[in-house]
Amino acid sequence: SATILAACMFTSASAKDLVVGFSQIGSESGWRAAETTLTKQEAKKRGIDLKFADAQQKQENQIKAIRSFIAQGVDAILLAPVVETGWDAVLKEAKEAKIPVILLDRTVAAPKDLYLTAVTSDLVHEGKVAGDWLVKTVGDKKCNIVELQGTTGSSPAIARKKGFEEAIKGHDNLKIVRSQTGDFTRAKGKEVMESFLKAENGGKDICALYAHNDDMAVGAIQAIKEAGLKPGKDILTVSIDSVPDLFKAMAAGEANATVELTPNMAGPAFDALDAYLKTKKEPPKWIQTESKLYTQADDPQKVYEQKKDLGY
Ligand code: AHR
Repeated sequence: SATILAACMFTSASAKDLVVGFSQIGSESGWRAAETTLTKQEAKKRGIDLKFADAQQKQENQIKAIRSFIAQGVDAILLAPVVETGWDAVLKEAKEAKIPVILLDRTVAAPKDLYLTAVTSDLVHEGKVAGDWLVKTVGDKKCNIVELQGTTGSSPAIARKKGFEEAIKGHDNLKIVRSQTGDFTRAKGKEVMESFLKAENGGKDICALYAHNDDMAVGAIQAIKEAGLKPGKDILTVSIDSVPDLFKAMAAGEANATVELTPNMAGPAFDALDAYLKTKKEPPKWIQTESKLYTQADDPQKVYEQKKDLGY
């Protein structure tokens, strides 16, 4: 009947009309670019109207974007928070406006009732996996480590440092001799690595590099080569993300290990949102993604071929 048809039309139109605001950090890394691409693809696939805002690494821009999403009356907000603290006020505003917020890939230090759920990996565990790999690889050898940290104050920088330190604790032959932020970028990773190399006898006193993401490792690998040393041999590398370029470096024998972080955080986020809007039942506060270790034993050339067209 006409009434039934009208009802159906309304249902399908309202599903299609879902408007979601996405406050993205910026485009500091290959991983971040892939997350942006995949989030847009996932939204399109599901008929979601995604309002995208690039914060260019600034929390104040993210707060402005969230306020503008609230003013526009969006149905939900995705937030990849650049730093961990300073979110309470704006998250409260979203809650008061009854707009669910889903955190993507990074966590916040705010009361849990201020967001619907967080889709992230176990960030401490990632650092631990990287550290465990190095402990196993160097055995009893003395190993001076240099560390390239992610963006200061960001949850992955804090947690990946913690996890790695936990893993090497009690192994007195392993020591972090230099640690500085490289802001998760290739350029800064290279620049900071150059200063580490200079400070450590041209790099001869460095046994391993731990980088909080692959992009910084790729920049550092370049610096190591320019210093006349062999990355992957003279200086071991372990990092996080598993972006295609790191597999390229691994295939060339210039990188040793990477812990995978999926860039498709939006898939599980939209699934959770969909279920929540349908049932009003809250999802678990944490939707955890996997952290898999890849080494040179995993046919890096093949992994590179598989990954290179996946949005990176
Ligand atoms: O929050 C995830 C991290 O942010 C990625 O590991 C890094 O590449 C990105 O910039």
